[in-house]
Amino acid sequence: SLCPSIHYRPIKPNDLDRLEQIHRDIFPIKYESEFFQSVVNGVDIISWAAVDRSRPDDHSDELIGFVTAKFVLAKDSEIDDLVHYDSSKGEETLIYILTLGVVETYRNCGIARSLISEVIKYASGLSVCRGVYLHVIAHNNAAICLYKRLMFRCVRRLHGFYLIKRQHFDAFLFVYFINGS
Ligand code: ACO
Repeated sequence: SLCPSIHYRPIKPNDLDRLEQIHRDIFPIKYESEFFQSVVNGVDIISWAAVDRSRPDDHSDELIGFVTAKFVLAKDSEIDDLVHYDSSKGEETLIYILTLGVVETYRNCGIARSLISEVIKYASGLSVCRGVYLHVIAHNNAAICLYKRLMFRCVRRLHGFYLIKRQHFDAFLFVYFINGS
């Protein structure tokens, strides 16, 4: 098939260079080296990588896609008003998706969908987790279609949220509610 055999695994320290390179290639925003260090070392960040096992040996474990995320306490989040609270279960948390990307030649194979599904599956297994949320720049149609398709709800438009090359751009805030929220 056009879409090869993709595997999903955690991100690890020797993914660092490739992870940085893909971020540079596909995002308009610059991420600091501390961010990449936290991702590959799993410090306060959870992440999944996609790799194509059908590639020749030296590339069969190379990142072709990724999702990175972190925990945010629901009450400290910007969607604290949308969360259903039930203190008997412990302190509610949310998972905030920081970055999601698939290299261009591997797009439209369902890799981003699978990466987001991994996050949702993980979040759903945590009884204190009430949802997964993220920001996306308002003109990113591919990503917006993806989140809508995966049943995320667009709950807010944030004016001038992103500053890129001294220009402001709006963001949409998407949320996927879980565990009865
Ligand atoms: N146009 C319209 N809909 C699209 C497009 C597109 N170009 N790409 C994906 N979709 C939608 C479709 O509904 C698709 O479902 P379908 O195939 O059943 O119709 C669904 O998304 C799933 O598509 P995938 O194949 O899983 O998406 P892909 O692996 O190609 O990755 C992504 C999508 C991550 C947006 C990719 O285009 C990319 O890396 N873009 C550059 C970086 C980026 O924009 N990242 C997201 C920014 S937001 C954030 O990081 C929190």
